[in-house]
Amino acid sequence: MAAVPSLERAVAGIKTRATINFLRDSPKKLLINGQWVAAKSGKTFESINPANEEILALIAEGDKADVDAAVTSARRAFDESKWSSITPHQRSRYLYKIADLIEQNADQLAELESLDNGKPLAIAKLADIPGAARTFRYYAGWPTKIYGETNPSDPSTFNYTIREPVGVCGQIIPWNFPLSMASWKVAPALACGNTIVLKPAEQTPLSAIRLGELIQEAGVPDGVVNIITGFGPGAGSSIAEHPDVDKVAFTGSTEVGKLILQASAGNLKRVSLELGGKSPNIIFRDSDLEAAVQSATRGVFFNSGQVCTAGTRIFIEQPVYDEFVERLIEQSEKMTVGDPLDEKTRLGPVVSREQFDRVKSYLEIGKGEGAKVATGGEAVPGAGYFVRPTIFAGVHNQMRIAREEIFGPVGAAIAFKDEDDAILQGNDTTYGLAAAVWTRDVSRALKVARALKAGTVWINTYGGADPISPFGGYKQSGFGRELGVHSLDLYTQIKSVYVKL
Ligand code: NAI
Ligand code: MG
Repeated sequence: MAAVPSLERAVAGIKTRATINFLRDSPKKLLINGQWVAAKSGKTFESINPANEEILALIAEGDKADVDAAVTSARRAFDESKWSSITPHQRSRYLYKIADLIEQNADQLAELESLDNGKPLAIAKLADIPGAARTFRYYAGWPTKIYGETNPSDPSTFNYTIREPVGVCGQIIPWNFPLSMASWKVAPALACGNTIVLKPAEQTPLSAIRLGELIQEAGVPDGVVNIITGFGPGAGSSIAEHPDVDKVAFTGSTEVGKLILQASAGNLKRVSLELGGKSPNIIFRDSDLEAAVQSATRGVFFNSGQVCTAGTRIFIEQPVYDEFVERLIEQSEKMTVGDPLDEKTRLGPVVSREQFDRVKSYLEIGKGEGAKVATGGEAVPGAGYFVRPTIFAGVHNQMRIAREEIFGPVGAAIAFKDEDDAILQGNDTTYGLAAAVWTRDVSRALKVARALKAGTVWINTYGGADPISPFGGYKQSGFGRELGVHSLDLYTQIKSVYVKL
């Protein structure tokens, strides 16, 4: 295997041997039936480091033929007793083992995540990688607790239900939290006894490939988890259309979510969708403004704003609007933009040239709509896809920068009059993924939290998800709830059995 010639430049600053060796082994392959294989077409694509635009590795470009092979493998593994009839205790052990292996390889995984996605290494170490281990460990507890019911049938009958796995699950994930998103999908599907065809995003395939190796190391039988790297049209669409895939779970854009839903009609796959957001963060004047401003800044800039729950519409009660915007500017200007491997960096680049262009175009759209650039408003010159943390002030909720998901470090500060106005404007969006309310008035907090049409609401904080609690969207942010006990609904189906006595 030969590394790409740019590897040394692409990984400048990386010290861990294991990370460099992993990348040296290029092209990276597809995982089908326990074997790492090239795409049948022989094609590959480049995975780029967004901080320096150098090529990290070549990646197998899976297509329909590879998806077919992966689905056949997943189907065989599902039907064979080696997976479907292992005991729940054994399944549990596999998941605990995967969690342990993620922790043992945390430094390498964090480096791969930072190189591939551009996120600060320190944050990958603190949040992404431990979060993925936590998710596997959380679901490791479930196999032995997936209960059925006995129902109050009449005396001549005994009726009970059992929860069975759905079958072959296609899982298509995005690039913003590559390993976390893989863990949210893979862990509950395995806990429930399904088999998997996972497609990581083409921008960030590396940590999923490494996860595939760890899943093998954990001893999960061949064919239970298959990984097809490749593009949306081609690899992703073939999964969504496949007649022998029983369920598809998708996280990504609302636009592609709609395509997935259409493609699912062929064989009526079960579908769960986690899509975009334009989440309101509502700040009343009686709140702890210092805590609110710090949290609002993180809420919009965390992961360079590439977060589906990013608090991009910052609603501020009129009397404190000017003061709050001043403080937002001050906090934003403290967000150090730069090399993701530098400890001081808070904001890395955005993930790709495409995303960079998209974000820059929204900066122009905002200026054109008459919003005022309070801070930022431009890209950082030089190599890498860096954008200055940007706050637009004087925004009203009908502007495109307040309605469309930008997915970059760009926040909109919008004024509101009173509680009713905050709720009205907060809900005036096609999305409904998340929202937050800041106030010291407990009943106001609870009333507003109830009125906001969003799958997650934070009170006096912003951001964060824990595998103990459901996550998902209202409206065009999707449907189905991942995490918590709710993932079991996505990855099991219920059988009712009547026994004549
Ligand atoms: P995308 O929705 O195209 O990509 C997400 C995943 O879907 C990737 O794995 C991609 O390969 C796959 N995909 C793309 N087209 C497909 C198709 N026709 N059939 C099956 N799978 C397909 O998102 P993209 O283009 O990377 O980003 C565009 C915008 O989407 C962003 O600016 C952001 O607004 C939003 N987005 C939202 C995310 C979220 O977490 N909700 C994550 C990523 C993007
Ligand atoms: Mg796309």
